Amino acid sequence: MKRVLVAGCDGQLGRCVRSLVEGRADYSGIYAGLHASEAAGAVRLDVCDAGAVEALVARMKPDYVVNCTAYTNVDGAEDDAEACRLLNVDGVRNLAEACSRHGARLIHVSTDYVFDGTGSRPYIETDPTNPVSVYGRTKLEGERQVERILPGQSVILRTAWLYSVYGRNFVKTMLRLGTERDEIGVVADQRGTPTYAPVLAEAVLRVMDSVEWHPGLYHLTGKGQTTWYDFTREIFRIAGVGNCAVKPLTTEQYPTKASRPAYSALDTGKFERVFGMEIPGWEDSLRRFFVDINR
Ligand SMILES: NC(=O)c1ccc[n+]([C@@H]2O[C@H](COP(=O)([O-])OP(=O)(O)OC[C@H]3O[C@@H](n4cnc5c(N)ncnc54)[C@H](OP(=O)(O)O)[C@@H]3O)[C@@H](O)[C@H]2O)c1
Repeated sequence: MKRVLVAGCDGQLGRCVRSLVEGRADYSGIYAGLHASEAAGAVRLDVCDAGAVEALVARMKPDYVVNCTAYTNVDGAEDDAEACRLLNVDGVRNLAEACSRHGARLIHVSTDYVFDGTGSRPYIETDPTNPVSVYGRTKLEGERQVERILPGQSVILRTAWLYSVYGRNFVKTMLRLGTERDEIGVVADQRGTPTYAPVLAEAVLRVMDSVEWHPGLYHLTGKGQTTWYDFTREIFRIAGVGNCAVKPLTTEQYPTKASRPAYSALDTGKFERVFGMEIPGWEDSLRRFFVDINR
């Protein structure tokens, strides 16, 4: 029986990982969230509290820790760099150090926003990073903490444009706006790849299921690439939203606090080769989202 501690169990990814672990007889899950309650079968854990992280890992002795926590408000981070750093750097370090002391392996999640977006083909793991936002910089520092503290005992999965039936995300926001407005403007000059959180959660399980341990850095997103504009058009097409026009905007026409990479598609070939997982195209996953949300 493998013991898995899921930190951040109430976030989009955390809920998807939890649901997969709960469905498996060969795993025993320990679920920890910032606002978790015992009634929900979870324990409270602030990963920024080094003592609390140490105590939980020492007590539960997990084989794996899956870090689903993060400060994910990309624009908010520009005004609140301290809070962002506390979670995306110090919180990650706390988890990595506790794993190191107690012999647990860490599966950590990072982002396409570690790149500056000046590339023109999908980024591979060895491409140089150059984040252009506070969020991206702190996520990159978090990666480095993991690599420094747990070399050989960690897997880092960089993902992108994450959405799910849970919480707040781009797909759910567009669906809401599609019913509220006659027209919306969406950025059409940023390319990347939407990732359905259950697919990323399946990849996390694949890492833990693997007979051989394959530590290192991997890219894990949906397959293919698109723009926020075309993504929105596909969301509306599948959902049958017909009364809201989608207007393409340039990044300049839609200024945000944080800069975002213009191109951030990630090459998932390494993960697919090493773990033998077939990753679905982003359009297929979007259709799956609609099946799941209408259940
Ligand atoms: N969302 C995206 O588009 C995207 C894109 C690329 C990469 N990623 C990465 O993918 C991973 C998962 O993202 P997600 O979208 O699932 O995130 P999410 O839904 O925002 O969930 C993050 C979780 O972290 C928890 N948390 C916040 N502060 C904490 C603390 N001090 N201690 C413990 N937990 C704390 C939050 O709890 P509360 O909700 O209770 O505050 C929340 O449950 C992250 O590493 C993120 O950087 C996400």
